[in-house]
Amino acid sequence: MSDNVQEKLESLLRVQRVIPPTAEAKAASYIQDYDAAYRQSIADPEAFWDQAAKELEWFSPWQRVLEWDYPWAKWFVGATCNITSNCLDRHVKTWRRNKVAVIWVGEQGEERVFTYAELFRQVNRCANGLKSLGLRQGDLVTIYLPKIPEQIVAMLACARLGIIHSVVYSGFSAPALATRIQDAEARVVITADVGYDRGKPSNLKEVVDQAIATCGTVEKVIVVRREQPGIPLSSPKEIDWQTWLDDKPATCEAVPLDAEAPLYFLYTSGTTGKPKGVVHVHGGYMVGTYLTTKYVFNLRDEDVYFCVADPGWVTGHSYIVYGPLLNGATILTAEGKPDYPNPGRWWRLIERYGVSIFYTTPTAIRLLMKYGEEWPKKYDLSTLRTLGSVGEPINPEAWEWFHRVTGGTCPIMDTWWQTETGMILVTPLPSMPLKPGSASRPFLGIEADVVDREGKSLPPNAGGFAVIKKPWPAMMRTIYKDPDRYRAYWNIIPNCYTAGDVCRKDEDGYFWFMGRADDVIKVAGNRIGTAEVESALVSHQAVAEAAVIGKPHKTAGEAIKAFVILKHGQQGNSELIQALKDQVKKELGKIAVPQEIDLVTSLPKTRSGKIMRRVLKAKELGQDPGDISTLEE
Ligand code: WT7
Repeated sequence: MSDNVQEKLESLLRVQRVIPPTAEAKAASYIQDYDAAYRQSIADPEAFWDQAAKELEWFSPWQRVLEWDYPWAKWFVGATCNITSNCLDRHVKTWRRNKVAVIWVGEQGEERVFTYAELFRQVNRCANGLKSLGLRQGDLVTIYLPKIPEQIVAMLACARLGIIHSVVYSGFSAPALATRIQDAEARVVITADVGYDRGKPSNLKEVVDQAIATCGTVEKVIVVRREQPGIPLSSPKEIDWQTWLDDKPATCEAVPLDAEAPLYFLYTSGTTGKPKGVVHVHGGYMVGTYLTTKYVFNLRDEDVYFCVADPGWVTGHSYIVYGPLLNGATILTAEGKPDYPNPGRWWRLIERYGVSIFYTTPTAIRLLMKYGEEWPKKYDLSTLRTLGSVGEPINPEAWEWFHRVTGGTCPIMDTWWQTETGMILVTPLPSMPLKPGSASRPFLGIEADVVDREGKSLPPNAGGFAVIKKPWPAMMRTIYKDPDRYRAYWNIIPNCYTAGDVCRKDEDGYFWFMGRADDVIKVAGNRIGTAEVESALVSHQAVAEAAVIGKPHKTAGEAIKAFVILKHGQQGNSELIQALKDQVKKELGKIAVPQEIDLVTSLPKTRSGKIMRRVLKAKELGQDPGDISTLEE
């Protein structure tokens, strides 16, 4: 462990407040005795997941719950299903057909409400639209949309036909989008004319035009037109969403799919430059997201569930779209930033719609904290019952603030998981004692641990690697076109899935996550690979070499800092620094732009020429760099 980790460890050890569950939270819980339920689930995980899967509908049953050929897993082997049958058909057959499924609020204050029956119709129309383009099971559609309901409709429409969706966050730039379209070989791209960012439209269609100029597989581009008058389209490749779906029938049978049929690819950052296409499948993913949404938030029919994520990220996939719809929940989703038009935005929505479950991020909480308690105080937040946090460690101060301003009685579920894990793996349940800053204990059926490099369990409070010791149903099945990168997760530490996080487990078995052990930076909870930013910088003609590190940041958790060596004869000045930032924005998007860029004349390297980011980071933070025996100079 590096000294940086040691320091984080010590600061975390200082905090030791335990908050017992309230009588109400406990009484309302599906799982009232975590320890007993956990012991039972872990004694026979396959029996546990078998039971969970039976709460859902399948076209035909499985012969085996799990086939485990290390590190390859198949769940619900031989079964056929379709995740959308459980998100939609299962509900429209009951009283829920007229229950509100989705309330969407736009950045400009617009509101659109979909009942389950209406969502069902729209998804079916869109599925028929996809069919009319000749798309079939196994084809791939890239969805590059802002946070509008069409994003959800398009995802479900693909899934209904066994078409794989690849949602790309609408903040990514043209080259980043192009890489993702090319890797997935998308036949169709669904986009919109614009997204809005603090009132300003950003032209998404233009980004798509640029991107697909280099993507030979794309046959059609569907455009949702939000602005009036609508932007011109160049037929026949480009189709208006509305015209496309107007005449399509509102019924379309869900295609029965093998439980292991791919549902989606989602690209995420890793240690090397190229983003990895994480593959999730219908059956196991459906069971995992269904059960975690239900138990972690104690989701009931009367709840209004508000998750602030964007379906461009995995949280949106699992906990806006699939998990909540599988449970027949009423979902609130809002386009835009938490402080636009003012910092009362989310608190106001909670009051207006009577939100009872609110799932957000540490970065957003820290941002709202800066505006002060007077903002939440202006609104009636008494409908809140369960809170959630995700994406990065939540510091105890932000935890306490969030807890206090929302009334002081709502349990906060600090949920730890990853794009790769598909579902929440370490989390409290509302009936458990909470420790601010800790993601608590493994979810039912999950064997998590903290180990050393050899895979040996570490004693309480020793820092080590977070690992999962057994397969779980929503785990990724592979990395698209790169099985070796998939295998690597299970090969770093013997007999375990290594998450890449540094962690300790306290004497009560509570997990304290402390950040990444690899070259991944978490900026405002977004995952950014140092190598991606470095290669964007080097693509500028003035740059010879670049190294990127993450640095603690008060609001965003981490910020990106770059060290750049210029080519011979290049003039280093503030214009050039700005040009380098613009270059990263152009290559990757706004979220990856370094906050600071230092021009340097050398970088610490190993004798084999590998940049030692660890040494740069230690120097930057004024810490001991640890073992530098491999350092060249
Ligand atoms: C990485 C995964 C999980 C969905 C959104 C991010 C960090 C996530 C927590 C948490 C501490 C957390 C980890 C993890 N992380 N949740 N509750 N406490 N760290 O998904 O982009 O795949 O990132 O986010 O470092 O490995 P992702």
